[in-house]
Amino acid sequence: SKKPGQFVATLRAAPTVVQIKPGVRTPVWTYNGSVPGPLIDVHEGDTVTIKLINQLQQPTTIHWHGLPVPPEQDGNPGSEIAPGKSRTYRFTLPVGSAGTYWFHPHPHGHTAEQVFRGLAGLFIVRAKADPLAHLPERHLVFSDLKLQTNGRIAENSMDDWMNGREGQFVLVNGHLQPTLQVLGRQRWRMWNACSARYLRLKLPEQSMIQVGTDGGLLGAPHPVTELLLAPGERAEVLVSGDGNSALMALSYDRGKMGDMPPEHDIPLLHAHFRIGVPAELPQQLRTIEPLGTPTAQKELVFSEDMDNMTDDPASMKFMINGKVFDMNRVDLTSKVGEVEAWTLRNDSDMDHPFHLHGTQFQVAERRYKGQTTPEKLLAWRDTVNVRPQESVIIHVAQQQKGRRVYHCHIIEHEDLGMMGQLDVI
Ligand code: C2O
Ligand code: CU
Ligand code: CU
Repeated sequence: SKKPGQFVATLRAAPTVVQIKPGVRTPVWTYNGSVPGPLIDVHEGDTVTIKLINQLQQPTTIHWHGLPVPPEQDGNPGSEIAPGKSRTYRFTLPVGSAGTYWFHPHPHGHTAEQVFRGLAGLFIVRAKADPLAHLPERHLVFSDLKLQTNGRIAENSMDDWMNGREGQFVLVNGHLQPTLQVLGRQRWRMWNACSARYLRLKLPEQSMIQVGTDGGLLGAPHPVTELLLAPGERAEVLVSGDGNSALMALSYDRGKMGDMPPEHDIPLLHAHFRIGVPAELPQQLRTIEPLGTPTAQKELVFSEDMDNMTDDPASMKFMINGKVFDMNRVDLTSKVGEVEAWTLRNDSDMDHPFHLHGTQFQVAERRYKGQTTPEKLLAWRDTVNVRPQESVIIHVAQQQKGRRVYHCHIIEHEDLGMMGQLDVI
């Protein structure tokens, strides 16, 4: 239901059975019966009230990925809702929070399973004045599905735990390689809701212009030939063209370990483009101010240790600053409003997408193989990829007091402990 300024909904997390492959019944866990879950579509300034009813056999939470919600409303690990119980989340979305978000469970140790069984939904916050509101909008949520031959969702193997899980089917809005019609210029909001798959997106022969990141619009349109979306990340693009194209996920080497099959290019969807009436493209989308000079520094080092590996996934160590996650330990402290520089250093052999709860940040620079590159795009993000031997420097200022987490968004790594806790005072 939606009264002005109020959004009220109920989400029921429950097992159900769907048909993803024609003729095959697949048991899944869903919000309100669908994969992906419902879209929550609200405006800046709205107060959102959502009741979660947990009809799973496991504890769960809902985490509002990327949204600036108070920590106690953010479904962090430690605030699980027991099976058969419910709770109501409530928060108000501040002006400036327009963007492309999502929600998913976050119970520690079970996040990966709950997401790969189907629990995730989309969340859009709209600005009162949106310079692209005149364009037709399409939502593309990418997820991947690993099915056994009997149609059941497979459990994680040791390789899935180590590298993060990639299914044999990459789905778009729950469908395999759908076909779209694009007349004129369209605005696509895209979500990488895969547990671990990187999407190096390319739309051969058509025009793709990036206009937004996780935390809303860029300052100005930015033409791209390809776009890497790490797990958890979102982007907004404008597409237009003429003729038929497939949106491709090109092969991307993220340093998977063990005996993995070689990477290859995958078509995600097919699109028929027609030129139509050219829609106006504003040259300025909004003003993004740099956060300013940091007055505090933090360093996070990502590493893994497989030395004592047995056949128990928990014997693989995925760490930040040499430690696996402990809910009863505070790893970092920040002060509300203070601009900080965080150095995210990847000391491991595979890519890790870093994600911080509750606050958008700005990437300032990247250091890779002895080269320092200032970031060209000033943008708001909550997820950023860090390559092996790379350091990414982000600027961030916390808005709200309380405890939050940050972690690798390869969800298996998060469950295995590549997560830490931040206390904002
Ligand atoms: Cu998508 Cu801890 O989040
Ligand atoms: Cu999050
Ligand atoms: Cu990781």
